[in-house]
Amino acid sequence: MANDLVLLTGATGYLGYLTLIALLKRGYKVRAAVRSNSKVSKIEAAPSFKALKPSVEWVIVPDMTADGAYDEAVKGVKYIVHVASPIPTFGTEAIPTEKLEEYFLHQAPKGELGMLTSAHKAGTVKRIVVTSSVVAIVPFEYYMGEGDYSKVIPASNRIPDVTGPFVAEFQAYSAGKAKAINASEAWMESHDTIFDLISVIPGWIFGQDELVSSVEDFTKGSTNSVLLNLLLGNKEENGYNGNVVSGEDVAQLQVLALDPSIKGNQSFIASIDAEWEDAIAIVKKEYPEQVANGDFSVDGKQPTFDIKHTWKETEATFAPLGFKFAPFEKIVKAVAKQYLELKAKA
Ligand SMILES: *[C@@H]1O[C@H](CO)[C@@H](O)[C@H](O)[C@H]1NC(C)=O
Ligand SMILES: *[C@@H]1O[C@H](CO)[C@@H](O)[C@H](O)[C@H]1NC(C)=O
Repeated sequence: MANDLVLLTGATGYLGYLTLIALLKRGYKVRAAVRSNSKVSKIEAAPSFKALKPSVEWVIVPDMTADGAYDEAVKGVKYIVHVASPIPTFGTEAIPTEKLEEYFLHQAPKGELGMLTSAHKAGTVKRIVVTSSVVAIVPFEYYMGEGDYSKVIPASNRIPDVTGPFVAEFQAYSAGKAKAINASEAWMESHDTIFDLISVIPGWIFGQDELVSSVEDFTKGSTNSVLLNLLLGNKEENGYNGNVVSGEDVAQLQVLALDPSIKGNQSFIASIDAEWEDAIAIVKKEYPEQVANGDFSVDGKQPTFDIKHTWKETEATFAPLGFKFAPFEKIVKAVAKQYLELKAKA
């Protein structure tokens, strides 16, 4: 298994970069498909990457939704970890409403099905691990405050596809992820493949992000920005689901899922349960001075919808490989710590 060649997509993003590091640390050879060369230098300058002195093969795939986009990139690989997929913009330039359907609903499944098709043609691939999301398997009303929160939703839950038009990014993003997992599993059922498929299903992903170099970058454009803005006093009336996970844990699961001891053709929840506003108490305890001097605020508001998942099953399955989810406290501290470091540098 060490030395096996893995194709990774999305490596220039927050989770993809963490997955790249986790793959390299476990001894895999990595070929990374990126949209353009421009972000590669940022990765090559990041501390964990530099410390490993790896040789990564970069391949350029400018449009992952083009027909046969990955045909060249998959040649000779044994495993694929497919992270690349459109995510909400979180305060950076928003996707115009009339483009939401194309951007989220069509791109996410198209990229995933294209990858399955290319892998099938290549004939060397044994397993594909895909990053899904809890929004793909939970009915949308749960995120609107109207779910049956007494239910525990398992990783195997699937929901009917919904079509546009959409009014909000989050809604379109959810629909795209739901369609992607449905369509890829339907594709698997209708094809006789030598590979199997594992979907890793994370909630809100937070943690240290080595690719971020300023306070400004950290407070928008990623899931981290949502947690951080709460700690900076943002008052949100709408509830968010309390399914949270450290980015390093998701990366680790995506890499451990390649292990032959893990059975194929199944999916795993990657998120623990948390109350968003507990983050405020955690920072108050850990950084009392920085709360007193105004670096952090205790006035933020963020109601939580308690959607329950079977994440303990994931932990039990991966425990023999040394896996355990980091608690919310550790996750919050990592984000707060990086924020203070970036602020001190500015
Ligand atoms: C997605 O999958 C679920 C469960 O298999 C099914 O109930 C639903 O109708 C599917 N949606 C579509 C459009 O395929
Ligand atoms: C996974 O599903 C594919 C496609 O249906 C099948 O060919 C393969 O044998 C399955 N593998 C496992 C380990 O169940």
